[in-house]
Amino acid sequence: MEIREWAFRILGATTLEEKLLNPKNLTDLDPGSSYRFKTPSRPSDLSFTPFSKKHKLPAFHEHEKIENRIACLHRFAGHELLAVEMMAFALLAFPSAPKHFRKGLANTLKEEQWHVKIYQDRLLELGCTLSDLPFNDRFWKLTKLMDTPLSFITIMHLTLEMANLDFAPHYGSSFKRHGDTLSAKLMEKIYQDEISHVSFGYHWLNKLKSPNLSDFDAYLFHLDPSIPLKRSKGFIFQKEARELAGLSDEFIKKIQTS
Ligand SMILES: [Fe+2]
Ligand SMILES: [Fe+2]
Repeated sequence: MEIREWAFRILGATTLEEKLLNPKNLTDLDPGSSYRFKTPSRPSDLSFTPFSKKHKLPAFHEHEKIENRIACLHRFAGHELLAVEMMAFALLAFPSAPKHFRKGLANTLKEEQWHVKIYQDRLLELGCTLSDLPFNDRFWKLTKLMDTPLSFITIMHLTLEMANLDFAPHYGSSFKRHGDTLSAKLMEKIYQDEISHVSFGYHWLNKLKSPNLSDFDAYLFHLDPSIPLKRSKGFIFQKEARELAGLSDEFIKKIQTS
């Protein structure tokens, strides 16, 4: 299947099965012209709900209660489904990006689909289905700021996914502390994959940026100013995770101190 058709099918999907469509053989012979989805189709039971204060995630000290851990895991499953859609969005929006970049996005998309599945499986073990709780469209609000592959990378990989290098282990250790080792193991898998996703973004930032800009200056240059730098961090800064992702010492230091 052509990548373009695959991305269209994912964003136009009205079943979870179609959202998680994973063709064995993908080709990219005809990426076509740029197409920017404003909002995707969704299965009716996974449609978007406007979130308010009442949807705030439970505090870490409340993770003892299973329903609070479920609320967290479901929210993260929602982020994974959004990440699936963001990769599909980029594949359609940036048809003339380098082939290797597009191939990397397609591989990341498949990993995000797998993440949806493993959250779904864990939620089922805890007695919750994906349709039991609401989903938000958080990442879709940012697509208007993703005009180029570089602005996509800076928002998606080097901000939202970068923050997950802090959040995933933080939630994982909290779940473990509250006796939920299976959910903690799941967070560990997500953390490991997120390191490679951030690494992918950083690699392409360096490949596509102007040689006159440092990695961090290029990040700042291509990141829309409406997005605060603090969105690239969680509550506990994981320097080692960023080192594992291959970020330069200067980049890590500037993010840490910003
Ligand atoms: Fe993911
Ligand atoms: Fe990711």
